[in-house]
Amino acid sequence: MRVTKYNIAEKDCTLEGFDFENVELLRYFLSSAAKADIRQAKALAKDFSRRLKHLIVVGVGGSILGARSIIEAFGAKNVHFCGNSLDFSQFNDILKNLENENYGICYISKSGTTIESSLFFELVCDSTSKENVVVISDQNSPAHKLASKKGFHFLEIPQTIGGRFSTMTAVGAFPIFFAGINFDKTFNGYIHEIKTFLKNKNQSEELCYAGARASEEAKGKRVEVFSSFENFYQKLLPVFVQLVGESLGKNGKGLYPTSSNFTEDLHAVGQYLQEGRKSFVETIICSKKHKNSSKIAKKYQKINNIALNSTIEAHKKADNSIVKIELEGQDEKSVGTLLAFMQLAVIVSGFLTKTNPFGQNGVEAYKNNMRKMLNAQ
Ligand code: PA5
Repeated sequence: MRVTKYNIAEKDCTLEGFDFENVELLRYFLSSAAKADIRQAKALAKDFSRRLKHLIVVGVGGSILGARSIIEAFGAKNVHFCGNSLDFSQFNDILKNLENENYGICYISKSGTTIESSLFFELVCDSTSKENVVVISDQNSPAHKLASKKGFHFLEIPQTIGGRFSTMTAVGAFPIFFAGINFDKTFNGYIHEIKTFLKNKNQSEELCYAGARASEEAKGKRVEVFSSFENFYQKLLPVFVQLVGESLGKNGKGLYPTSSNFTEDLHAVGQYLQEGRKSFVETIICSKKHKNSSKIAKKYQKINNIALNSTIEAHKKADNSIVKIELEGQDEKSVGTLLAFMQLAVIVSGFLTKTNPFGQNGVEAYKNNMRKMLNAQ
């Protein structure tokens, strides 16, 4: 993986004072517990997929976005996601489509109290036989207690790993294995990138990217536009919008994250990026080798690369600040590498801008209002 910056001046950034020992995420993922948790999730996913054709995953926010995006990127069609809104039609459509199919339910909620997902889970858990239901949550959460009471399977989310940082735990492993995707390779890519970061520290690609984001924000940039020219990586852009928004949008600080799919959006917001207000940083994700290696696909890849390079040239001339993140390929390992890179870069960004990337007190306001209004009914 390689990070290249355009129109962004080199600025000395250092990880001196960064307390690696206290980053729980690093401690957990480098421990044997992380591997044991994946093995357990894999065994259960295998058991489910032997008996069941489909899986409905109920969850919301960072807790499901990683798995959903990876499954969509690989085009698997046997895992269906709901609980990320309160619109009943989404849930109803899934159930209608699966009316004559056998399916299992996977309820993912770290807190076990999130309104959107718990409401939908309540609707289906009693009508599904208990051996076809798995709850993935914190130990002793209300969801865990419910699972014990009803005899559902249970996989634990490590206490110290929050929703958007949990894709490489049972949270992602169970649905991704069920989808038939080689999660082991993704996990290995993820761990390899963590080790590479720890080895390189001040020379790491994560610091290079986080440093660019921090210096651009200090210069007045307010928005980060994630984009990709590849369908595969476009599916992952919502993960980074969610991760950056919920981790770094705090205390009146942070770049507002958004995403664009190119070349389609070059025929829309491309105009703004070229000639509009220069308040954004562009972060472009691309890869050296595409999934499909047929002759015609290679021809298209070549043209797509020309589109990418032409856009970078045009946007450079327009004085845009650009970061290009280049992965090896469109494969399981590269996805793991990218996830680790982004999560680490967000943690490093938090260190550089004095923002705690964990927790999300800001989202509690609407939840509290909702609880009050629901109780008053
Ligand atoms: O990334 C996060 O931590 C959040 O987006 C949560 O995933 C989201 O709020 C859902 O929370 P929970 O998993 O507790 O249901």
